Parts: sequence; structure tokens; C-alpha cells
Amino acid sequence: MKPSPPVLLTHATQLLSLRGQTAPRRRDQMLDLGIISDGAVLLHSGVVVAVGSTDEVARHTLAGNAEEIDCRGKVILPGFVDSHTHPVFTAPRLVDFEKRIAGASYEEIAAAGGGIRSSLAGVREATTAQLAQHVTRALNEMAQQGTTTVEAKSGYGLTLESELKSLQALKLAAEGWDGTLVSTLLGAHVVPPEYRSDPDAYVSLICEQMIPAAASPKLAEYVDVFCEKGAFTVEQSIKILRAAVEHGLKTRVHLCQLTPAELAPILQFNPDSLDHMDYVADGDLPALAKSHTVVTLLPAVNYYLGLDQFPPARKLIDSGVAVALATDYNPGSSPTPSMPFVLSAACTHMKMAPAEAITAATINGASALNLQHRKGSLEPGKDADVAVFEVTDYRELAYWVGVNRCRQVFLNGYRSESGLTPGLPNRL
Ligand code: NIG
Ligand code: FE
Repeated sequence: MKPSPPVLLTHATQLLSLRGQTAPRRRDQMLDLGIISDGAVLLHSGVVVAVGSTDEVARHTLAGNAEEIDCRGKVILPGFVDSHTHPVFTAPRLVDFEKRIAGASYEEIAAAGGGIRSSLAGVREATTAQLAQHVTRALNEMAQQGTTTVEAKSGYGLTLESELKSLQALKLAAEGWDGTLVSTLLGAHVVPPEYRSDPDAYVSLICEQMIPAAASPKLAEYVDVFCEKGAFTVEQSIKILRAAVEHGLKTRVHLCQLTPAELAPILQFNPDSLDHMDYVADGDLPALAKSHTVVTLLPAVNYYLGLDQFPPARKLIDSGVAVALATDYNPGSSPTPSMPFVLSAACTHMKMAPAEAITAATINGASALNLQHRKGSLEPGKDADVAVFEVTDYRELAYWVGVNRCRQVFLNGYRSESGLTPGLPNRL
């Protein structure tokens, strides 16, 4: 891919600007996509220069020199922000897959030595370059479906050396990718087998060695903890979050995925995001709504694990909590790189309106990474992250399932069509 000259995308049936409001969006703000009919966007030097109707944008001084791409019969939107993924693994978990089909639960599989622990050997044995290759493939698959910003965690090595190697692999993959990658240390994914008899010693290893090593030189922006029965207690999580803050790293937490937990001790760290939150208590909603913390829902997990219950999106949104959507791309509970699939699951199973789902997957995802000033909407000065879908109504982004309608993406202004299905003739 080579740097794009000025590019003018014109005549989109709908351009979803998501412009004009503060972020993250809450309640009814999530319904306003800032739709522009016959929309256009002008990109130059990696940023958005102008957005508006085709007539308006075509008058811009830079428009005359731009390469024009006719987007009739298409919807243009900000590239998706996938704010929660685990791409540093080497193999699918096919034995677990079959066990679950035969009736075992996620927790039972993990307790029997499957789950996260069964991905450790592959990552520990792999070289940095091999891991980076796996990550690169995932990033490209994400981009093919409209994703331009990805948060990516370590967490399948669980030794000092292999967690740092995972972060190095993310760095290497990010350097070769045109999109934006935000890196997270998830040494606290589960307690590895070597520390089963002394989990607190593993917590000390995370706090005293992993976090300092990830903070300087800066290999991660965030520290994440899987705060859950069978993983890390609230007390242990607090120790880890405190060490993260002391070393200048930001925080995000896997919380309330399988069992309820009290939020107050975690909220004191002002995490940018709390993720999963299937079992969030009603009593915690007012505090969450007042906080800057985004709640990132991951309905592809519930779909893939065959669960009847999905995260309570309606209750959260209607209480004023800022909600984002992400894939949770990982080998155990969500092997999908597809944000459009996540939109479908969010609308079908969590009763989010299509407009709410799009807001959650763009500007609110950006807020969950503290990138709302650069990502998540199409406004002058923001990064040139754009997705073009061959649909004529924004609701189709969440409507079609199992088919990829994404035809083109711009990642920080770099164009990518590789691997995309060739477009059908324009409908108009
Ligand atoms: O977000 N919950 C913890 N971590 C992942 C699953 C990881 C795995 O099974 O590999 C999640 O669902
Ligand atoms: Fe996760």
C-alpha cells in the first residue's frame, strides 16, 4: 500500500459523519449519526480535510487536485474502532470447541486445563516474528471488514519473557499495518500452571516485573486484568491496577463476565473501559453513568459460547452509561474479526438500534481508548480512517450477516482494497 494522494469520495448515498457532539455518546445521542445525503469526504496527508454534501466539499480548494472516487450506491462511515481484541495466539482451540458442542461450559473447560491455559505452549514456543505474522493476519482480516483502529492485548504467554515477546509482536505487526493499534499488557489473564499453588506470587511478578518492563520502554499503553472467579480476585486486581497507574499506564478491566462483582473498588482507578459486564448490578448503573468509563459490550462471545443471556445493553444505555461494542477476537470465546457481525449480534440479541450499534462501534469505541479526539467520526482534522460499504442505508450495516459488504477502507489515509471482494456495479 502506498500513501494516497488527496482523495475525494463523492456521492455517497449516506455519509455517516457522527459529527458535532462530545464523546462518549449517551442515551439519545447514540441515535444521531450525523447523516449527510449525497455525502462527500476529502482526505489529504492522512487526515480528513472536509466533510459535507458533494456540492459543498467539491468547492474546497484541495478538491480540484484530488482523485475522485464515486461512491454512489454506498454508505461511507468512520472506520470501526475494535476496542477489545486478543490476537497474539498461534492456533484455534478445536478440542474446546467440540467439548462445548458436547455440553461442557467455558468454565468447565477452563477448570479441566483447556481454555486460556491451552494457548500458552504455542505462544511460549513461537518467535516474535511468528507471533507478529498471526497478528498481521488478524489485523488484515479486521480491516477487510471496515476496522481501522484495534486495541490488542497480550495474555497467552503468562511469563515475563513471553508477555514481553507478545507486546513486541504487536509492535512489529503495528509497524507493518496502516491502521492504528493500541497495545495492552494482559499478564493478568489467568494464573499460569507454574503459580497455581501461589497465585499471589504471580501477581507480584506482574506488578514488580511485567508492568515496569512494559512501561519503559513503552511497550503497552494499557494494563488489563481479567477480574473474575477462576482468574483474579478484586483484591489482586486492585494491586495490579495500582502498579499500572504508578508506572504511568492506563487501565481497562474484564469485569462481570461470568459472575457479579462490586464496581466501586475498580472505578476508583478511572479505567477508560470496563468490558463484558454481563452481570453488572443495577445499583452500580448511576455511578457508571456519571463516570467517564465506557462499558464495552462483547456480544460475539455470548453468541459463540451459545449462551442464552447477552449483556444488558438496553439497561445500560437507558441509564446513561456510555456503551461501546467490540469483537473480543480470541481463540476461546470469540474467533471473529468482524465488527459487522458484532453489530448484527448487538441489534438482534441485545436490542440495540442499528444507529446505537454504529455509534458504539465508532466514536464510543474511540472513547474507550481515549482516542475520541482523533478517531470515531468524520470531521476536519481527524485521522483519515474511512470505511465504504456497498449498502444504501446505514441499517444494512447491522442487517446483513455472514457476508462482507465492505468495499474499501482508508487507514490513516492509506487505501486498502486487497483481499476485498470486488464491488458489484453501482446501483444508481
Ligand atoms: O475476553 N475473558 C477472558 N478473556 C477472553 C477469553 C480468552 C480465551 O478464552 O482465550 C475474553 O472472553
Ligand atoms: Fe477479552
